[in-house]
Amino acid sequence: MMDTSGVPVDDLTRAQAKWELTRLAAEIKHHDELYYQRSQPTVSDADYDALKQRNAAIEARFPELMLPESPSKRVGAVPAAGFAKVRHAVPMLSLDNAFGEEDVRDFFESVRRFMKELKDDPTIPIEALAEPKIDGLSATLRYEGGEFIQGATRGDGTEGEDITANLRTLKDIPHRLHGEGWPVVLEVRGEVYMSRGDFFALNERQEAAGEKPFANPRNAASGSLRQLDSSITASRPLGFFAYSWGEVSEPIDGSQWAVLQRFKDWGFSTNPLARLCGSVEDVLALYGEVAARRATLDYDIDGVVYKLDRLDWQERMGSSSRAPRWAIAHKFPAEQAETVLEKIDIQVGRTGALTPVAHLKPVTVGGVVVSRATLHNEDEIERKGVRAGDTVIIQRAGDVIPQVVAVVTDKRPADSRPFEFPHECPICGSMAIREPGEAARRCTGGLICRAQAVERLKHFVSRDAFDIEGFGKKHIEAFWEDGLIKTPGDIFRLRDRRDEIAAREGWGEQSADNLLAAIEDRRTIGLDRFIYALGIRQVGSSTGRLLARGYLSLEAWREAMMKAADADSEEHADLIAIDGIGPAMAADLTGFFAEDHNRDIMDDLAAELTVADFEAPSTEGSPVAGKTVVFTGTLEVMTRSEAKARAETLGAKVSGSVSAKTDYVVAGPGAGSKAKKAAELGITTLSEQEWLELIGQG
Ligand code: IVH
Repeated sequence: MMDTSGVPVDDLTRAQAKWELTRLAAEIKHHDELYYQRSQPTVSDADYDALKQRNAAIEARFPELMLPESPSKRVGAVPAAGFAKVRHAVPMLSLDNAFGEEDVRDFFESVRRFMKELKDDPTIPIEALAEPKIDGLSATLRYEGGEFIQGATRGDGTEGEDITANLRTLKDIPHRLHGEGWPVVLEVRGEVYMSRGDFFALNERQEAAGEKPFANPRNAASGSLRQLDSSITASRPLGFFAYSWGEVSEPIDGSQWAVLQRFKDWGFSTNPLARLCGSVEDVLALYGEVAARRATLDYDIDGVVYKLDRLDWQERMGSSSRAPRWAIAHKFPAEQAETVLEKIDIQVGRTGALTPVAHLKPVTVGGVVVSRATLHNEDEIERKGVRAGDTVIIQRAGDVIPQVVAVVTDKRPADSRPFEFPHECPICGSMAIREPGEAARRCTGGLICRAQAVERLKHFVSRDAFDIEGFGKKHIEAFWEDGLIKTPGDIFRLRDRRDEIAAREGWGEQSADNLLAAIEDRRTIGLDRFIYALGIRQVGSSTGRLLARGYLSLEAWREAMMKAADADSEEHADLIAIDGIGPAMAADLTGFFAEDHNRDIMDDLAAELTVADFEAPSTEGSPVAGKTVVFTGTLEVMTRSEAKARAETLGAKVSGSVSAKTDYVVAGPGAGSKAKKAAELGITTLSEQEWLELIGQG
């Protein structure tokens, strides 16, 4: 074997050069794998860059020797570190929560009110499947022809990460479906979890190896599943309970309970505590039973989920953009603990809100060490009478930020003083004012305030927004400090500053290319994510989706928002007619568009990006897809809620007011002014029966 590694490029013979290029290609590939797939590089960025430079210099001398798999062909296009993205054919939804018996009863009532025959006959029982809510991570498993072909995380519900190789290592996940009768395409969904016993054992191993222990089994499961090297996942015992499904080639009929039985026949584990319940009283009894057994279970659960057993009812009730209407999670009460509040700090968020944060003496609550808790706003501090030095009761539930519940007043130090809420922004010194009717005091510094500018950028690249891989909070702060990025548009101009990034401490050519590739990956973005990324007050990701669905393109949305500033305009009426958007949110939206600097930011981004029109979920063949419908008067076949849900499932927009943009007005007996307005505007008015015929349900 030839050793050519030390020969200066200019001295290489042709044969040596050929050999050296092959060697370098293999070596660079090896380092790429260590870096990208295992996150464990073994050479410094500088050494890696030297290898690439040597390769390029040899190629420059002998261009005809360039290999088809030459590393130089991959410059700037290195695959972004991490997992490939998977678009979910059926979105992975979340669940609405019930925090007590009352909420559970309301849920059963809402089901009865939704379906006309149940409303009319209160003796018809509402059967529900009840099963523990596993505190793990949801995953979807795709089987084609009975073979496990792809597994993904939930991600933002629309798009997750491909973790097939890791999921294959779980014993509860069959590589081939057992038994028979499974649909050709079947996506089984469920929860990946780590047992408590395995969690403690793993943490002992972590600590023995000098690694950081995991805070709880959920984090341990998540960390284990998101390993780029699946042999690490294989060494961590993870379980999987199947509880629902996504895309299926043939509709599944029967009941939720029957599906669980079939999952078992096909080789999955389902939760042994699942029960079919005949009434709200039954589910509450099961809740009590599960709660009593919670401490003895070997896995963490955070509530009990109730799902309508009849699948035809599930379908009729449908889902909002966030969660199904046919299920609810009855959460266990939050866990509490007592500790000392050491000081109160003020944080400034992206909308300028000053949020008081309690710094606590670290305490374990429900298995997690907590050292900070939110105090929400100044009224909350006043109401609870919280002072630095106080002993306080804190609580945490699920993923929510821990909260201060109350002060243990008899433990208050004699010299304590009430907290004085600042009237100036602690970051930029601008005045912080509180508008009448607002809970938050806000910094008036706008984008001159470092906190607001940086928080907006962090929000912009966050997971449900642009989701730029590898562009963490620390990087944003550092890039902002050094003037590399001041506005969101600057992120997309970073490619002009590649060398500057590569020269930064802790960076290098490889990491710079990696970041730029991740940014390029996002130069085309869906309208829903784009809207959310703007960080408009109150506009979360589900509102982003509602708006995208309502306006379809960036141009249409912008134009409508500008016009909607006039509260008497049709555009304003259309905006608040969207279910989930009220006058307060409309004011925040139009307020955002009223500011020059916000419009500048959008113009700037529009020049850098392609904002893809909203892709409505496939409603192929639906006669009412994209149409705007108004229901008015009394409906006789369906309840108003069911009619609306059905129309939305078919891709129609349901509006509360009639305008020139309305396509159909469905008028039942007693229809008044809306039917009249429709007649004046010449809009097609249908009876309920005609509507049902139109949508093929007559
Ligand atoms: S059903 C469309 N059942 O809870 C219905 N979810 O808060 C989808 N979860 O994202 C969910 N145990 O990760 C369902 N028995 C259970 C569950 C469960 C845990 C998780 C799941 C979901 C989250 C919603």
